[in-house]
This record gives sequence, structure tokens and C-alpha cells, in this order.
Amino acid sequence: MSNPDDTSAYKPVSFSATVITELMIPSYSNFGGKIHGGILLSLMDKVAYVCAAKHAGNYCVTASIDTVDFLEPVEVGDLVSLMASVNYVGKTSLVVGIKVVSENIKTNTVYHTNTSYFTMVARDEKNQPVQVPGLILENRTQVRRFLEARRRKQLKQHYKDESDKIVMPDDEHVCRKMLDGERCTIIN
Ligand SMILES: CC(C)(COP(=O)(O)OP(=O)(O)OC[C@H]1O[C@@H](n2cnc3c(N)ncnc32)[C@H](O)[C@@H]1OP(=O)(O)O)[C@@H](O)C(=O)NCCC(=O)NCCS
Repeated sequence: MSNPDDTSAYKPVSFSATVITELMIPSYSNFGGKIHGGILLSLMDKVAYVCAAKHAGNYCVTASIDTVDFLEPVEVGDLVSLMASVNYVGKTSLVVGIKVVSENIKTNTVYHTNTSYFTMVARDEKNQPVQVPGLILENRTQVRRFLEARRRKQLKQHYKDESDKIVMPDDEHVCRKMLDGERCTIIN
């Protein structure tokens, strides 16, 4: 174990690994006949919650979602499976990695529709953040996922620091110059 705290409270990744499978029914579709992105987001939030709450042993809230790119459209009649596991734990937060696949049951074709990372924060009965158990990594894949999640956390902080450096210039000419080449116009 690499951490000095009470490791008896640690839980293995497999303890909370969760799969939800749901049939895509017609009422889930958009005007184009494909499944609404929001339906998939809701299922992802649900599986993230189950996985996080099981690891934490507490109620959890969604703090952030690290990019959702829809790689393939999902069709009515497909079976969508969401595979979730805890990738990383901080103090009161943890990161759940979710892989979403969609299966056409007539052709047995399986598509990877997206992979996303949900940061969840554990709450106690008084709604205060509470420490989550440490994580027992059971194989090299889980070690890689932990390291990748830690790196994404560092990059997110870097991205925030860089974004905070953007200042709105007082001088209108400077502002216009900064927008050179962009597809926008200032009207007042
Ligand atoms: C997310 C939330 C719990 C953070 O609360 P907070 O008092 O700001 O907590 P802290 O700053 O002490 O952070 C607590 C943990 O959350 C993490 N965290 C907070 N905001 C985060 C964010 N935007 N992205 C990733 N992690 C975040 C912190 O890194 C910290 O992790 P650690 O304890 O493992 O080091 C709070 O903003 C909240 O309740 N948001 C609403 C959540 C919600 O209702 N979600 C459902 C969607 S409607």
C-alpha cells in the first residue's frame, strides 16, 4: 500500500464495479429517430451514483463530468450497457470511469459510444463532505486508470489557471484586435 492511513478501510475496485443495461425505447428518441444525448447522460449519472455510493458507503453528489463525446449514434431497439468503476479516490471525492456500449440485438453489432469520467463527492447525514475509503488496485489496468485520473485532475487545474488569466481589455481597439479572424462582430 502506498498510503499511510488506515488501509483496513480500503475497498477493492471490484467491490463497487457496476453495469447497467437498458433497452432504448421509442420515447427516448429525438426528431431524427436517434436516442437523445440527455437520456444517455441521465443513465451515466445513475450508474456513476450507484458505483460511487457503493464505494463511499454514503450518499454522493455529482461534482463534475469530464467530457462527454458521443462517438456513435444510438438507435431505438439497441441495448445500451454502461460499465462503471472507481478509477481514483481523493479525500472526499472519487472519479468513476464509465464506458458506454450500444448493441444491435438483431446483428449482434456492438458500438463503443463513449467513455466519460464523473467526479462524485461523498456526503454525510448532515450534508457535509465526508472522507471516502481508499482504493485497492487489483491489476495493472486499474493502476493505469488511477494514474490517468490523477493526471486529468492536474490538467484540469492547469486549464482553470490558464482560463483565469484571460482578462477583458478596457481599450476597445485592443479588444477588436484580439478578435481578429474570429466569426463575431461587436455592435456597441
Ligand atoms: C461539488 C461540491 C460538493 C463541492 O463542494 P465544496 O464545498 O466546494 O467542496 P470542496 O471544495 O471542499 O471539495 C470537496 C471535494 O470535491 C472536489 N471537487 C469540488 N469541485 C469539483 C469539481 N468541479 N471538479 C472536480 N472535483 C471537485 C474537490 O477536489 C474535493 O476533493 P477531495 O476532497 O477528494 O480533495 C458542491 O459544489 C456541490 O454540492 N455542488 C452541487 C452538486 C450537485 O448538486 N450535483 C448534482 C447536479 S444538480
